Amino acid sequence: MTVSRTTPAPPASPPPSRTFDVERVRADFPILARQIHGRPLIYLDNAATTQKPRAVLDAIDRYYTTHNANVHRGVHTLSQEATEAYEGARATVAHFLHAPDARNIVFTRGATEAINLVAQTYGRTHVRARDQILITHMEHHSNIVPWQMLAAQTGAELVVAPIDDRGELIVEAFAKLVTTRTRLAAFTHVSNALGTVNPVRELAALVHDVGAAVLVDGAQAIAHKPIDVAALDCDFYVFSGHKAYGPTGIGALYGRGELLEAMPPWQGGGDMIKSVSFAGTTYNDVPHRFEAGTPDIAGAIGLAAALDYLQALGLEAVAAHESCLLGHAADVLRDVPGLRLVGEPRHRTGAISFTLGDVHPHDVGTVLDRLGIAVRAGHHCAQPVMDRFGLPATVRASVAAYNTVGEIDALAAGLRRVAEMFKA
Ligand code: ALA
Repeated sequence: MTVSRTTPAPPASPPPSRTFDVERVRADFPILARQIHGRPLIYLDNAATTQKPRAVLDAIDRYYTTHNANVHRGVHTLSQEATEAYEGARATVAHFLHAPDARNIVFTRGATEAINLVAQTYGRTHVRARDQILITHMEHHSNIVPWQMLAAQTGAELVVAPIDDRGELIVEAFAKLVTTRTRLAAFTHVSNALGTVNPVRELAALVHDVGAAVLVDGAQAIAHKPIDVAALDCDFYVFSGHKAYGPTGIGALYGRGELLEAMPPWQGGGDMIKSVSFAGTTYNDVPHRFEAGTPDIAGAIGLAAALDYLQALGLEAVAAHESCLLGHAADVLRDVPGLRLVGEPRHRTGAISFTLGDVHPHDVGTVLDRLGIAVRAGHHCAQPVMDRFGLPATVRASVAAYNTVGEIDALAAGLRRVAEMFKA
């Protein structure tokens, strides 16, 4: 496919933020110097995974170059250094989430594994036949399927709170679905497909009123807004490191202390035990009880470096910058012929979804790629959201701290080009 290099003049752009030096941020990310099909990379697929700053790459390199050893096992110096760095990373995560203690943090492979952990430990011990598990219509598959599995295992019922045409949760409907049969509610902080921000504290209060537990999927919130698990009043909060400038394969579960203490172990193996004999096994303390086997030590260290990096940028400043980008995106995308925004939530973070006439989202994504622009096209692992809007797929642009208003303008120009090509 050939795509002309001439692009229409971009529409007027808002002035760049005076408090946030995006060019300095960009300089921290080596991959942003790449060219794609002869054009500068414009990376707008941050909801799928973010790029990694030099600070994270260096932290991982430093660990393997100078400290690599297994944790919690050795008396030798390297093992003690590795243990200190790994447990230090846990403390960093706790601090980032405003959790009371590092013991509230369990390292997992990501948000998905953390949700599965809660479903198979807390869920298996608290959810019984005829109980209800409440989720919403805007969940990622990761916050649907583990609960379907739990429902099948226990005889419980999965109940789904509806969303409206704006892509917002209908809070009154959610409130009506919270009953004495509700044992647990699991909902996303921010929708990966629509960018909708949920009123977590309000929802948590409704659920706690009936004595049920609250799990919040923070995968799409963690890099975009300050997170305070105490202020949100959730029982569990999960996220993936790679969506917050950290490495893939590492994430975390925050759990309220008394709940984690009462939860049985999940996977069996080394490190989650105090002693083992053929007569029986004594399990380790929280959180090690939930971390069987050698963990992703370098991943945890890389994650801590990412969260430190994000803290240094300032979550409020990042949120303001990204809000400016998304507001501008909503304005300029609306002017592209044939473009329809999918979901227009009043509180949006991270992502904006749309369709372009009858052009298949994969074709839109492919043409944009030829222009150096990376977006995600598909159902975004949120097929019920697509069904709600009567669509098989959308195109999604998702922003990070390093994106610029000029890149949003280039996206709009690229989409006008696609519309012309396909006469959308
Ligand atoms: N959950 C990721 C996304 O929304 C993969 O793209």
